[in-house]
Order: sequence, then structure tokens, then C-alpha cells
Amino acid sequence: MSIRIEPIRSVKGTRDLLPPDTALWRRVEEEAHRVFTAYHFREIRTPVLEETALFARSVGTDTDIVTKEMYTFRDRDEELLTLRPEATASVVRAYIEHSLYNQGGIHKLYYIGPMFRRERPQKGRYRQFYQIGAEVLGSDHPALDAEVLEMLALFLEHVGIKEYRLLINSVGCPQCRPGYVEHLRRALEGVKSSLCEDCQRRTETNPLRVLDCKVEADQPIIDKLPHFLDYLGPECRQHFERVTSELQARGLAYQVAPRLVRGLDYYTRTTFEITSGVLGAQNAIAGGGRYDGLSEIIGGPPTPGFGFSIGQDRLMMAAEAAGELKAADSLGAYVVWMGDAALEPARQLTRDLRRGGVSVEIGYEPVKLKKSMGLANRYQARYAIIIGESELSRGRYQVKDMTSGEQQEMEPGTIAAYLKEKL
Ligand code: HAM
Repeated sequence: MSIRIEPIRSVKGTRDLLPPDTALWRRVEEEAHRVFTAYHFREIRTPVLEETALFARSVGTDTDIVTKEMYTFRDRDEELLTLRPEATASVVRAYIEHSLYNQGGIHKLYYIGPMFRRERPQKGRYRQFYQIGAEVLGSDHPALDAEVLEMLALFLEHVGIKEYRLLINSVGCPQCRPGYVEHLRRALEGVKSSLCEDCQRRTETNPLRVLDCKVEADQPIIDKLPHFLDYLGPECRQHFERVTSELQARGLAYQVAPRLVRGLDYYTRTTFEITSGVLGAQNAIAGGGRYDGLSEIIGGPPTPGFGFSIGQDRLMMAAEAAGELKAADSLGAYVVWMGDAALEPARQLTRDLRRGGVSVEIGYEPVKLKKSMGLANRYQARYAIIIGESELSRGRYQVKDMTSGEQQEMEPGTIAAYLKEKL
């Protein structure tokens, strides 16, 4: 009796990205490199593993991310480590660790990579997901908030996403926040018993988090709570007004969303989200805001910051729905050879074309012409190059356009340039 071995599957909430999708993912990443570089952002790569304390301190000990969602484990030397649930804290950690502040001026950094949160998987929500993010460190100027949002809008436009909403709010600063939180707490006292269990707890521990509650029954109650915007101190109010007027000046449409506090504790002043109607329940494509106190929270010098992260998985879904994103992933040419004498010239041509940057495939088993052409079709090759006995004797190969069926004879040395022009 043979033993059946159960195949091992990918871990729940994680997934493989396969071709041809990977070509679209790369196309989007290339666009991010291009657009962000145009705005003078430079790439940073930080580790996926960080000390747990980094996220506990920055994202906040009462957030869902830290209390329920982090992949945390004790390393062999007892150190508590976490797979990063987000990258802003890591970027600021790196900024401090490498004393980038000593270079003066502002630092504009961006990143692309996987993040990990142990959430309940559903459409658009994964346990390993990908973010494309950007952070500006070293300035609290409201024009920068608007400039970064302009860059985000340009990037979305370039990947074909035009239908989205920019929701914006201010969550004040450590000076004006306690006053608002006190008003909120008092308002919550009256309605606390009608709220969900989590919110009843949050009323005591972190009343702001109540505004972020997603429980359906709580929504009408939360909608009636006082708005942060009505309690901002004069400087925060001015900052918010300047951000919105800068957005208007740049022709960027936005909606003020008074309940937008976001799920991370490090925010000060501006918070925002980009939502898309095509995504269903998990409709936030991107989120971000200002975090002027974060550097100090993790042991660095006072350094204001502003940034965003795009959820790349959701971005890809929205881009696919918009239908404008295209990526070149097709095979340029399939080289068909017949007879042993043709193998070496075929191999040589293949290498020359590849060196010239054309994507080429060749098979090494001798097969009949019909089967080779079948393979060229299966690979969706744009051209087939056929080398047989008569082609060898004439010193000219057949180049067949697989779409039109047209075929012409060409000298081997001219094929690379021809294909490069056509592809
Ligand atoms: P966040 O709102 O937690 O912010 O995440 C940003 C985006 O990541 C979300 O809008 C969503 O598109 C995507 N995302 C989050 N969780 C998941 C998930 N489980 N599956 C798929 N996509 C997900 C941050 O992470 C902050 N670091 C943003 C920021 C940068 N603030 C300032 N600078």
C-alpha cells in the first residue's frame, strides 16, 4: 500500500503571485520608482524583522495592530521580534540609527515590500500584503503634505486609477488633543453602554479609537460624537486650512472626513485615506498622515514627518478594474530549428537576440516543425524564426509574424534590429 503524502500549501492569508500577474505588479513598481524619483524621493530598504518594542511604542499598545495582529516571536536568544506590520516606524528608526538628521534638510524616502498582519483574510485583506510607501522627514510645512498627496495622485493616474476619493482630517497635536479627548470622553459616558465591547474598553483606554470602530450598530452613535476639527488649537487649525488650500491650488479634490483617526497612534495633524468604490468592504487603497512626534517616541531628535502607504494588493485590484494597466510580458520570438546542423546557428541567434534585449525561447529537443510552431503559439511568441536546411544553405532565416502570419527571409545579423523595432 502506498502512503499518500499530503501536499503542503501556502500559509493562510498568504499567496503566490504568478505570471502574468507579476509583470503587472512589476510595471506598477516601476511606475512608483519613476514618479517618486521625479519628486526627489529616494529608495530605502529596511529589514522585515524588527524589535517588537519599535511597533509597540510607535503604532501604539492599544491599537488592533499591536494587540491582535502582529507576528511576534521570541528568538533563540530571548529577544522579542516582530515581522513588520508597517514600515513608517522602521523608516524613522533607520533615520535615527544612521543619524540622517545630521545631513540637514529634509529626507524623502520611499519603500516597496511585504508587511505582515494577522487579520481575518478576506477579499483585499491578507496576512502578508505589500505596501508602496513614501515618507518625508524633517519638515512640518503644510505645502509638503499637499505635495506628497499630489505625487500620490499622479502615481494613481499613471497606473490607470482615476475613480477614488481622498478623505482628509486633522487629529491635532499633543497640545490640543487632550482637550478634545476630554470632550469625547464626556460625550462617550452618555452612550457607552450602547457601544460594542471593544468601544466600551476604548472609552477608558483610548477614546479616539472609538471613532475608528467598524461595528455597524455603533456607527449612528459615533457619528453624533464631537468632531476633532471643532477643537483644534489655532496652529493646528491653521495647518489644516493651509493643507486644504494647497490641495485646492493643486487641483486635487478631497473630502473632509471628521472621523478619520486611522488605526495607528503616531499621527498628529493631517490624516488621510484614499478609498475606491470598486474594492468592496476593504476599500482603502492608501492611508497616511503626519507624525510629528514619532521620532521622539522612538528615541530620536524632534523630527516632523509625513507619509503614506499604498496597499499594493488592493491597488492591483483597482487597477485591474480600471482596465488600463498593461504590461509587456509576452515572448518576442521562438526559435525553431530543424536538423542537427541547424542547432548551433539557432543557439547562436538566440544568444545574440537575447544579448540585444529581445525575449527569446528555444527548445533543445529535435521536434517536427508543426510541434515547434505549436509551442511558439502556446508561448504567445510575437515572432517565430525558422532555421532549416534550405535556410542554412541560403544564409537567410524565415521570420514569421505570428499575428499576421506574414513571413519574410532575413539575414541573421539583421534580425535583432528588426525585432527590436517591431516589438
Ligand atoms: P495603514 O492604513 O495601516 O497605514 O495601511 C496602509 C494601506 O495598506 C491600507 O490602506 C491598505 O490598502 C493596506 N493594507 C493594510 N492592511 C492590509 C491587509 N491586511 N491586506 C491588504 N492590504 C492591507 C500604514 O501602514 C502607515 N504606515 C501609513 C503611513 C505612512 N502613515 C504615514 N506614513
